Amino acid sequence: MSDDKRIPSRKDLLDIASLSVEEIEHLLKTAIPFKELFKRSVKKVPALRGKTVLNLFYEPSTRTSSSFEVAASRLSADVTNFTVSQSSVVKGESIIDTIDTLQAMRTDYIVIRHGAAGIPNLIAKHTRASVVNAGDGFHAHPTQALLDMFTLREVFPETSGKKVLIVGDILHSRVARSTSTILHKLGLQVGVLGPSTLVPPARHDFMRGFRTWDEAFAWQPDVVYLLRVQLERQGEPFFPSLGEYHRVYGLTTDRYRRLADEGTWLMHPGPVNRGVEIVDDAMTYERSLINQQVENGIAVRMAVLYWLLPDTELRNPKG
Ligand code: CP
Repeated sequence: MSDDKRIPSRKDLLDIASLSVEEIEHLLKTAIPFKELFKRSVKKVPALRGKTVLNLFYEPSTRTSSSFEVAASRLSADVTNFTVSQSSVVKGESIIDTIDTLQAMRTDYIVIRHGAAGIPNLIAKHTRASVVNAGDGFHAHPTQALLDMFTLREVFPETSGKKVLIVGDILHSRVARSTSTILHKLGLQVGVLGPSTLVPPARHDFMRGFRTWDEAFAWQPDVVYLLRVQLERQGEPFFPSLGEYHRVYGLTTDRYRRLADEGTWLMHPGPVNRGVEIVDDAMTYERSLINQQVENGIAVRMAVLYWLLPDTELRNPKG
């Protein structure tokens, strides 16, 4: 795949904020030939043969966990899916003790999702395996941001200056945080729309805030990026009801028609709450990129695993 040795590998991928534009561009470029592989009858390359990837998901996931599994196996790595609910975690084992146990098995890559922000950073300091953050609390979801950017690059010959309107629960969204950061780093414009209780004021000074869909449509976004309302992260309700949320901030039938008339592209990281942030009909919109985002997740995650360099080979694990 990419032989660009000018961009040194890193041990871990923890967030987008700490990546340089050159590193992001390198990952996006590396993902292109990996995606080409998907059209072949044999979709595997031997790049990570003999390496072990451990998927460690403390929170539910469909897209991220399965696409890391597919990505690792297409690179010929051995993959283990650690099922937290059936592990000694439920007997009270700490996360550090769990990592020590898994390190003793000489795992090369740990892909982790956790409900608490910062856990991947903690683990990265503690292990010689490469750690990939697959989503931590409200903090970061770097591979989602990379696949979103990769998808936009497939749609637009030139992405710089394009306008992306992110709609919904910005406050609880690691996707909004990571994706808005990558968009800003690569020169796109970011707008946000949502209930004032779910759009933190001035968290990112590069984001342009809108109070209503009418205001947001007047900005003429190229892409509308809907977020899921994360009820599981809201101790107290942040708006009166889901019906009210749909009426005021959801992509209703009328707004969907307007978006389609204007040829605006539609994105969503999934999972989708139909009837809340998006009306059913919009799921079959010809300019929806939702399935393309999922497919691109595999190529981008292959690029990430290929780029990272665990130091398990440089030193033996303790003992
Ligand atoms: N986009 C995303 O992270 O989806 P999953 O929760 O299904 O992994």
